[in-house]
Amino acid sequence: MRSPIPDYLDEVLRACAPDASGAVADYIPELARVDPSLLGLCVSTVDGAVYEAGDTRTDFTIQSISKPFVYALALAERGLDAVLAEVDVEPSGEAFDELSLEQGSGRPLNPMINAGALVVHTLVGDPVTRFDRILAGLSAFAGHPLEVDEAAYRSETETAFRNYAIANMLRSHGTIREAPEQVVLGYTRQCAVRVTARDLALMAATLANGGTNPLTGDQVVDEVVVRQTLSVMATSGMYDAAGDWTSTVGFPAKSGVSGAIIGALPGQLGIAAFSPRLDRHGHSVRAVEACRRLSHDMGLHMMDAPQPARATIRRTHTVQHADGGEATVYALHGSIQFAGAERLVRDLADAAELAPEVVLDLSRVHTVNEVARRMLLEVVRRLVRDGHLVVLVDPEETLPDPDCGDGVRPRVVATVAEAH
Ligand code: DON
Repeated sequence: MRSPIPDYLDEVLRACAPDASGAVADYIPELARVDPSLLGLCVSTVDGAVYEAGDTRTDFTIQSISKPFVYALALAERGLDAVLAEVDVEPSGEAFDELSLEQGSGRPLNPMINAGALVVHTLVGDPVTRFDRILAGLSAFAGHPLEVDEAAYRSETETAFRNYAIANMLRSHGTIREAPEQVVLGYTRQCAVRVTARDLALMAATLANGGTNPLTGDQVVDEVVVRQTLSVMATSGMYDAAGDWTSTVGFPAKSGVSGAIIGALPGQLGIAAFSPRLDRHGHSVRAVEACRRLSHDMGLHMMDAPQPARATIRRTHTVQHADGGEATVYALHGSIQFAGAERLVRDLADAAELAPEVVLDLSRVHTVNEVARRMLLEVVRRLVRDGHLVVLVDPEETLPDPDCGDGVRPRVVATVAEAH
């Protein structure tokens, strides 16, 4: 069977293609020379299935889409507190190149606007090794070695007057302590790294996948760094259109003036759309529309939450053993988080009558997060304290090393039949 997904992506592109509104960025001369009719869309799942439609193998410069990834590298290197001390995480509601700083502290408002990104650039490595580290980091996110587009780099350095102004402002406040011109050159080189829509979809999928590239298996950054990065993308990634984006499209995103937008939906997929003509916010007109359609058609809005709590307990029943003994079996399923574990806790706490033996059947549970694990182990500890025999059916070791404290450790078996 031919997968319907590439056909669907083609359909999205066909629907977006006629819109020729907007204009290519021309404040960077090299960007003004690009073919405005280019249009590509690529989606990568977190387990590395990559779907492409249109111009997904055409090179362009990464521009501002480098910002969340370099922010992630700075967080990984310096830690959250050190980075927060230099750059805040408040949406600015202003254009990406605004000369603005937080009153009093002199910190840029967030790492997605140019002021914040210039500071974040200086937080990776030292001036000598910095660019190699950034290029290696961006390459690890993409899953293969990336290169700099030297012509685009030179072109932007000749017209980066606004970024020089921002860097000088940062230097005058002591927010950066290096020579402003060198910082602009380094940041501009970071923006001139060459990528394709396919590369960007994999970079986004690496964020969606908790920091591990779905194809190489390389853990580029950890989950705490990813959470912070995606949070800032969700609140500030689309600059002064962030509120509209988050309410209508609803996944963390970042745009760049070369015409690309990435989106990352945690646990599901990374998206990249590319088309050079931009709207007044500096976002690609047709990439915005492609993301809107994807979100609507594929139900990708992050606030469309599933209802894990109701689904966690698949079935409760009592089994009679051959010797006359009885067991109450809780068959659980899905991925258990706080709300699902609370549902089990409530059910057990409210149960009018429990058999002497309680079986928690985890054989259809995929994952148990840290808080749900603590809650399940506490449930077992309390049931044992109340005089029950507790057995876990856990053939896949979804709850490894079930040490409940106070010397309580339930018996673990592979099937409900073995429980007694
Ligand atoms: O610093 C700049 O102005 C460019 N190198 C990048 C700006 C950018 O991509 C803004 N995003 N839409």
